[in-house]
Parts: sequence; C-alpha cells; structure tokens
Amino acid sequence: MSAVTINACAKINLCLEVLRRRPDGYHELATVFQAVTLADRVRVEPREEPGISLEVVGEAVPAGRDNLAWRAVEVYQQMRHWPDGAAITLLKRVPVGAGLGGGSSDAAAVMLGLAELDPQPPDAQHLTRAMTILGSDVPFFLTHGTAFGRSRGDELVGLADLPECWIVLTRPEFSVSTREAYELLEPRDFTNGARAHQMADAIDAGAPIEEIAGLVINAFARPLTERWPVFGELKSALRAAGALAAEITGSGSAVFGLFATADEAERARARIAAQGRWACVVQPVPVDTEIVESVEQV
Ligand code: C5P
Repeated sequence: MSAVTINACAKINLCLEVLRRRPDGYHELATVFQAVTLADRVRVEPREEPGISLEVVGEAVPAGRDNLAWRAVEVYQQMRHWPDGAAITLLKRVPVGAGLGGGSSDAAAVMLGLAELDPQPPDAQHLTRAMTILGSDVPFFLTHGTAFGRSRGDELVGLADLPECWIVLTRPEFSVSTREAYELLEPRDFTNGARAHQMADAIDAGAPIEEIAGLVINAFARPLTERWPVFGELKSALRAAGALAAEITGSGSAVFGLFATADEAERARARIAAQGRWACVVQPVPVDTEIVESVEQV
C-alpha cells in the first residue's frame, strides 16, 4: 500500500460578484479565484479494511464526519463503489471560517489523493461532479491557479497566471458562517458580473497588477462591514501600508491586500502583526504547480 501527501493550498476571491438568489436557495456568482501559497498538508492512506479515520493537527476543526475531508472519502467511496476505508491526517494551517477555502481544499486534496493511488482513477469530469456535492468552491482546487467561476462558483474557466505580486492575509478574531453571510445580502448588493468578466479579461491579456487591483470588489463588503466595522479598519490598515487593493475574501472573515513588492508586503504584515493580529504574506500559486508533495510505501 502507498500513502500520498498533498499540499492543499488556500484561495482568495480577487473579485466576487453575486448576481441573484436562485430558486434552489444558492446564489449565482461571477468570481475570480486565485490559489495562494498558504496551505494545509493532507496525508491520505487508503486502507484494505473499511472505515475512515481522521487525525487533525493544528487549527481546531472537527475530526469526525462534520469535517469535509471525512465526507470526501465517503463521496469517493460512493463514486467508485469502493468498500475500503482510508486514514486521513490533516495538518491545518489555513484559518477556518475565513473565506480562504481551507475545508474545501482539504476535501479536494483527499479526493485527489485517493485518485492518485487508485488503479482506475475517475476522469476529471467525474471528480469535478463529486467535488461539487461537497461544496461550491471544492472543484476550484482540482485545477487551482487562477480561474473564473460562475453558477455556484463550481463552473470554472482557467485564466492566465497572475503577474508577480504579494498578498497579505489578515483576519479579525472571529469566523463568519458562509450561510449567514449569504443571508445578510440584499438585492442592492447584487451586480451583473461585468466587473468579474473585466478582471478575467485583464488577467488573460497580461495586464499589470495595478490594473487588476483596480477591479477588486466583493459583494459581501457592504453587509459584513455594516455588521462588523473591523472589516473597514483592516482594509484601511492594508491600504495605509501601501496595498494596491484590499478586500474581504469569499464571505469572510479574512481580508487580503495586494502588493507590488515583497518589501511593502512584509512591512504591512509586520505592522498588522504588531497590533496582535494574525497576518501572513503569500503569493499566487501558478496553475501548473505540482501539489503532490510525496508518495510513500507503507
Ligand atoms: O456550497 P457550500 O456548501 O459551500 O455553501 C454553503 C452555503 O452557502 C449554502 O448552503 C448556501 O446557503 C450558501 N451559498 C449560496 N450560494 C453559493 C454558494 C454558497 O447561497 N453560490
């Protein structure tokens, strides 16, 4: 038997427009996803006996069926009519409930890990469909890089890699539930997706990071900032430290700042960390990056 270890990167939404609420309760999105270098490490070891085990090291997250990584094994088992089990170990570094896609990325990594070790792996289309069952932004982590997402955020078109830039991530001390954030949206927060399309075109045309930064928006900015003014303060702090743009990612609670140089980003990180806040500098993950860290015989 073998085990595989995968680098499960986080994401930010460089642009996130909500178009409307759908009859099925989900919202129609136009978004630009960007994978970033902050990552969990996910070890997947298929077992010959049935049953799932999950060990979590780091950030406090549930180690049972409530964890999307656990459910990813179940969905894989159903897809492949596969009776065996798996042992999963998660080294959590990505903050939870932060709009950074950590749980989704872990779930995608479990599926990719099982597929990597599967003698008859499912094709990308089947994997994508199974990932969508787990969550709207799980399929993005099949391809990572930079992508335009429509529908629930699960219908993806790959974009060119972002020009070189540095991203500072920070967050308030609380998490935001995705479902609750969607409930705070009002019709005035809905837009037509033009900005996200414009950003996608700019990225594909190789536009400079300053131009891309000028197109950053997030539909949750108004309701979340009205409820928690700290979001406005974090964005102001990033801009005051030289960010070309600063915005909430996903439905929060993390906020990102885009920087043209590593020095400026590091200075901004240090300034925010000095206020006692979590902050780190990351970079975009290019689309062809190898995410399988190692395969070992066990
Ligand atoms: O798809 P996921 O399980 O991540 O979504 C969590 C919740 O966020 C959904 O139950 C729904 O309330 C909301 N959501 C939405 N529209 C989307 C994605 C998520 O309303 N496109």
